[in-house]
Amino acid sequence: MPSRAPELLGTEAPRLFTPPQRDLTPQTSAGFTFIDFAEDVLGLTLLPWQKWLAVHALELRDDGRFRFRTVLVLVARQNGKSTFLQALLLWRMWADRIPMALIAAQSLEKAEEVWAGAVEMAQGSPELAAEMLEPILAAGKKELRTTFGSRCKVQTANRKGGRSLSADLILLDELREHHTWDAWAALTKTTMARKNPQTWATTNAGDDLSIVLNDLRETGLRQIEDPATDFAIFEWSGADDCDLDDRQAWAQANPSLGRTIAEESIAAAKTTDPEWVFRTEVLCQRVNLAAVSPLPRWPHVREPGSTAPVGAPTGFAVDVSWDRSRAWIGAAVRLPDGRTHLEAVASDEGTEWVLPRLRELCERWSPVAVGLQASGAPASTLLGELEEFLDVPVAAIGGADLARACGSMFDAVANGTVRHPGQEPIDSAARHASIRPLSDAWVFDRKRSPVDIAGLMAEAMALWVLSTIKPKPKRTAPRRIR
Ligand SMILES: Nc1ncnc2c1ncn2[C@@H]1O[C@H](COP(=O)(O)OP(=O)(O)OP(=O)(O)O)[C@@H](O)[C@H]1O
Ligand SMILES: [Mg+2]
Repeated sequence: MPSRAPELLGTEAPRLFTPPQRDLTPQTSAGFTFIDFAEDVLGLTLLPWQKWLAVHALELRDDGRFRFRTVLVLVARQNGKSTFLQALLLWRMWADRIPMALIAAQSLEKAEEVWAGAVEMAQGSPELAAEMLEPILAAGKKELRTTFGSRCKVQTANRKGGRSLSADLILLDELREHHTWDAWAALTKTTMARKNPQTWATTNAGDDLSIVLNDLRETGLRQIEDPATDFAIFEWSGADDCDLDDRQAWAQANPSLGRTIAEESIAAAKTTDPEWVFRTEVLCQRVNLAAVSPLPRWPHVREPGSTAPVGAPTGFAVDVSWDRSRAWIGAAVRLPDGRTHLEAVASDEGTEWVLPRLRELCERWSPVAVGLQASGAPASTLLGELEEFLDVPVAAIGGADLARACGSMFDAVANGTVRHPGQEPIDSAARHASIRPLSDAWVFDRKRSPVDIAGLMAEAMALWVLSTIKPKPKRTAPRRIR
């Protein structure tokens, strides 16, 4: 018989964790009763790593209170973080009858998803369903209520989150999405007057923008051996710099591997994901986005304060952010030294301003053309309007040309044949833009980039316009025939 690679099973214990202070037994950890509750009341058998987490994170002090006030859990995508939080919530509501729990995520929609999962779980249990009041379903006011007065509300993660509330349990899913401290500060304050509060934050690894996660993770690791710490970290992840093919690292970062996650799914992700996506989402490793920027030499082409000479050959392009919240006009202007000056010459909310502003700019700069993506892009809706009302040619850019535009931008930055005045949103886009494959080439990916990259796209397309579109010969006045 052909030999098969042994089946890979996720690692039960995390790679990095705050060790317990004593042997964990049903007397020293409430995790055991939680596991039984999940199984007997919710009909949910926790996965081995979820049981391990329950036992360790719910360690008790001598006085019966939780040892940890804050629990930070890092696990790769799709391993069962949200499910764990939902079961934990119902256990604290029904077994401990806590008066108030809050669920928050960076977007209300995400928090409501976790909440809805918990409601569904409760409705699926005859015991809990019998003690549930009708959930409040109004948008932004969702609430799960019990007959005995325990409640769970959904909160937006902003600086007003939880204001005027006092909470015993806070569940923050996807902490990596918190780009400011506002929500963390507002929500954790709500536990200050409670006797035995816990804040749980679950997430997969963050990037440079995940400032709350990065800071808390550092704190957790610094205090990891401190017996007095009330801050716990449990991290399932691949070791730093491990090989992408390292199957042991796959198992360390994906404790549900071989149970609810198939090894083939990870192997497939490895072939399709860009390296930084695979590292953050599958290996649960923080990736320094600057190091994997598709334009690593961007800082070298920044020339703060530089301006474009009016009257030189110019290309324009328009792009719109993925969520349509903002539009950008990019310019590429040929310099006397042969290089090209790139700049975002206009940007504002919405798209209504684009046509009138372009008309003004075209009058002053006389670009060879205004480019924009022809179809399948947020800006394509502007195509008809621009073609009808602009006095300069409009270049509708197709997929292959977009790949050429992005490739030319990469080459131009790498070779130093462009310069840029340095504009914060464009610098940030150049640092953080994601890319996606398009046939044998790649293009910048608006949707998967962690910041708005439409300004950068507009510049790349403007560069393409300038290098591709031939200027129309100037119209000369018709000769009068006598
Ligand atoms: N104990 C369990 N037993 C069986 N299936 C489970 C268990 N825990 C989670 N799952 C299943 O695993 C899948 C992923 O779970 P969940 O959405 O909780 O993961 P996640 O880590 O929050 O994912 P994401 O990173 O995408 O938010 C779901 O289909 C869920 O039902
Ligand atoms: Mg989740």
